[in-house]
This record gives sequence, structure tokens and C-alpha cells, in this order.
Amino acid sequence: MKRLLLCAAVALAMHAAEEVLYAQANYDEAKVPKYTLPDPLQLANGEPVADAETWRTKQRPHLLELFATEVYGRLPTKQLPDIHYEVTDDTPDALDGKARRQQVKVYFTKDKSGPQMEILIYTPAKATGPVPCFLGLNFKGNQAISNDPGIHLTQSWSRGEEKDGVVNHKATDATRGAAASRWPVEMILDRGYGVATVYYGDIDPDFDDGFKNGVHPLFAKNSDKPAGDAWGSIGAWAWGLSRALDYLETNKAIDGKRVAVLGHSRLGKTSLWAGANDERFALVISNDSGCGGAALSRRAYGETVKRINTSFPHWFCDNFNKYNDNEDACPVDQHELIALIAPRPVYVASAADDQWADPRGEFLSCLHADPVYKLLGTEGLPATEMPDVDQPVQGTIGYHIRTGKHDVTKFDWEQYLKFADKHLQK
Ligand code: GCU
Repeated sequence: MKRLLLCAAVALAMHAAEEVLYAQANYDEAKVPKYTLPDPLQLANGEPVADAETWRTKQRPHLLELFATEVYGRLPTKQLPDIHYEVTDDTPDALDGKARRQQVKVYFTKDKSGPQMEILIYTPAKATGPVPCFLGLNFKGNQAISNDPGIHLTQSWSRGEEKDGVVNHKATDATRGAAASRWPVEMILDRGYGVATVYYGDIDPDFDDGFKNGVHPLFAKNSDKPAGDAWGSIGAWAWGLSRALDYLETNKAIDGKRVAVLGHSRLGKTSLWAGANDERFALVISNDSGCGGAALSRRAYGETVKRINTSFPHWFCDNFNKYNDNEDACPVDQHELIALIAPRPVYVASAADDQWADPRGEFLSCLHADPVYKLLGTEGLPATEMPDVDQPVQGTIGYHIRTGKHDVTKFDWEQYLKFADKHLQK
């Protein structure tokens, strides 16, 4: 009983602390510090990036390296020799006959006892050939994205739901369909797309454990005292997305050359980092990714670098701490992360009531990535001012700020589908 009360008190205190943090942040545009952004089209020696070739061979690798060493940590280059797949389900008539449902285990080691992730894939049942597909990580387990009872319940560590002050880290049936509003599977299928998802906790549980669990220990170097540029959890999740894409490329129901990667919030930061690293992703979507995602760090509006590194010390690499209250010293800012996706289409979405994620800072990242998109011969962002609420702009860079809170809604998906139609449909 005593323990229960203590847990309840801790949970309440944590919630209250979160509210205090949100309230303490700066939301006043007049108090945004004066800053100068690094110019993505200026080489380290001060010369301009004059052409697409120089961008591709010099500047892009240079900026990618800076993000790896200073922000997210390096992704492993070592291949896992024993990675293998097992199709655990292939149902031709799921969702009342609308969908083919496949579930595929990805084992990272030979003996199957090591970390493993499960990919859930829906494709239109009537598809006559490979379809373009949206791939994204989810927060609660694959079973949460739909009420489909055939989805396997995740066995991995779960963030869990709190009940009577106790957090259960094992997912239960109660989580089935819990995130269905964020994954309008049938609407996506009706438009001729597939949708694939993986539970992020299969790849790396979302707590600070000193690199001991998830996929980090598979790469021995990182399991000791991590180096300043060792990958954090965002790196691990992004790496997992690429391993999911490796599999999707082998699946005949999916067109591996037309896979869009998307994510919400911390998983939006992840989709951007995955898209920056892995040029096989044909399109990249960030939904309300905020600090360390699409929002410019130098604005220090809403969540700041110091705040995020303090609350979530396991997300970024240790070197990122150098920029706590010191954003100007960072050699990159987040518009350059967007630029790393060029010339591939990228979509950034904000929500008006999500000031913690700095919607304006997210728009400005798109605007300041635009010169790179233009240099590479694309349409870039067809806006010079931040659009009004619920007025999307869609070029090669897409952006909207919608009414409402931090979430993924039908409105968001309607824009993503329209954007994908523009770029991925032959
Ligand atoms: C917190 C965090 C954000 C993050 C969000 C989420 O609010 O401060 O950076 O995007 O959680 O992932 O839900």
C-alpha cells in the first residue's frame, strides 16, 4: 500500500513538473534572441556552394557529419551478418476484406534471443502490383494503431499506462486501437497506399539506460562508456527505420522506391534523421517534431536544447550538451537537417496549440532550407511568409500549421496523402 501511494505521488509530481516546464518556457516572439543561422550554401572554407555537384559531393557529406558528431551521434556502419526475417502472418482479407495484413519479425541476431522488431504491413487487398507505402514508428505497440484483433501484441518494454499510481511496462489488450485516430489505415488504403509500422520500443526502449538495452549493445563499441558522438535513442530508432526499409524492399506488395517515412513528435525528429541519412526514403514527413526536429534551435522558443537534453538525456549524443544555453555555438541548425533531405520531397507539419514545438521555428527551417532545394532544381517551398492556420503550402517542401493540439489528425493525413500523390504516384 505504501509503495502504491509513493508511486502515485511520484506520477503526480512528474505530471506537475512537466506542466511547470511547459509554463516556464519562452513563448514571446519579442524575447527570441537575435541569431545568425549557418548558411547551408557556404562551404567550411567560406566559399559558396556554387552548384548541385558541390552540394552533393562536399557540402552534404560535411553537414551530415556535423549532425552525426554534434547532435544525434553516429549511426553504426557495421552490417549485422545474421539479420533475418520471419513472416509470422499473411492474411489476404483483414479489415473486412479491405487489406492484406502481413506481420514480419526482424531478428537482428542468429539465435533469436537478441533484440527483434516486428513490422506490421497493410496493403490494399485489391492491389494488382507493388504500392507506394508510408512507414512510421509507433509509440505503444503495433496493436495500438488499429482495432484489428489480428495484430500481435508487443512483448517489448512499453511506456505503459499508469493505473492507481503504478505503471505497467507490459502492453495489455487495453492498448488495442488506442492510437487508431493517428493511423487512418482504411483512408490510406483507399488512396492506393500501403502502411507499415514498427513499435519504437522494439528497437530501443525509451528511457536512459546507459546504452544497455535495445539495439545499442549489438554494436559493442557503444556499450561501454559512450563517446561524445555515440548514437542516442533517436539514432537507434532511425537506424531501425532503415532496417525496416531493407525488408520492405524485398516485399513484393511494396514498391521499395516509393516509401515515405513519417513520424510524430520524438518520432518526427527520428523520421527527419532517418531521411537525412538514408537516401532510399523517397519522401519524409515530420509531424510536430519541434526541438531537435524541424524547429530552429537558435530561436530557443518553447522547448530548448538545454531543456530537451535535461529531460531526455538518452535521445541525442552527449556532444549535444555543449549547446545547452549556447545554441549559437552549434555549427549546424535544424534548417540544414531539412536541407539534407533535398532534393527529395519533405513535409513539415505544426499545430497551433503546440507552441512547445515552436511552429514558427518549424516553418523557418523550411524557408531556410529552400535555397538548397532551389539549387538542386526543385520547386522548393512555395511561400515566403508563414501561411495562415489550416492553409497548407505544397511544393517540394510542404508545410502547414493546423488548428488544434500536439497530435496526428485526419487533416494532417489528408495533406500527406495529397503531397504523396503529387510526388510518388507515377
Ligand atoms: C516531450 C518532448 C518533445 C517531444 C514530445 C513527444 O514533449 O519535450 O521534444 O517531441 O515529448 O515525443 O511526445
